[in-house]
Amino acid sequence: PRPILLTRHGESRDNVRGRIGGDTVLSEAGQLYSKKLANFVEKRLKSERAASIWTSTLQRTILTARPIVGFPKIQWRALDEINAGVCDGMTYEEIKKNMPEEYESRKKDKLRYRYPRGESYLDVIQRLEPVIIELERQRAPVVVISHQAVLRALYAYFADRPLKEIPHIEVPLHTIIEIQMGVSGVQEKRYKLMD
Ligand code: F6P
Repeated sequence: PRPILLTRHGESRDNVRGRIGGDTVLSEAGQLYSKKLANFVEKRLKSERAASIWTSTLQRTILTARPIVGFPKIQWRALDEINAGVCDGMTYEEIKKNMPEEYESRKKDKLRYRYPRGESYLDVIQRLEPVIIELERQRAPVVVISHQAVLRALYAYFADRPLKEIPHIEVPLHTIIEIQMGVSGVQEKRYKLMD
């Protein structure tokens, strides 16, 4: 069995302010997580010469990967966070106040709701297909550093969760989800590296 490690980026400045989307850098806590993650990965994958680190193209995942040394890093646009379109950079409160219909439609059907000029969860699931094919093909461990919506979809695929649950799966910050794919099926462990 070989592990796939899934993690969100370290806390970003936008996470602190409650803003969705964007492309900000890490907060202090987020920077600390990047160091703890590097320690964890270097220990966990010490003898795994062919392992690789996959990030999105957004700064917060690239910066989270930065302290990890000794493994190749690959950026995937398909691992970028759900595109919130006209709502990018807003807080949920602002969306509720300024675009109440959008807020309500998303609440009613979070899986299918598509942000104006942005994406839905179904769109994200679809664009992840090549990533999943490549993850299945890999023989060596992979560390995937991505974002909340994307990791919900990836996790659901490996943990065999139903489509309708995807937008509600808990994928907390500063936690590694380790998935082991063996002959006897999929096993999961979670490592919470900080609060
Ligand atoms: O708040 C962090 C974040 O990654 C946003 O960038 C993104 O829009 C959101 O989470 C996705 O989560 P949800 O679908 O629950 O709004």
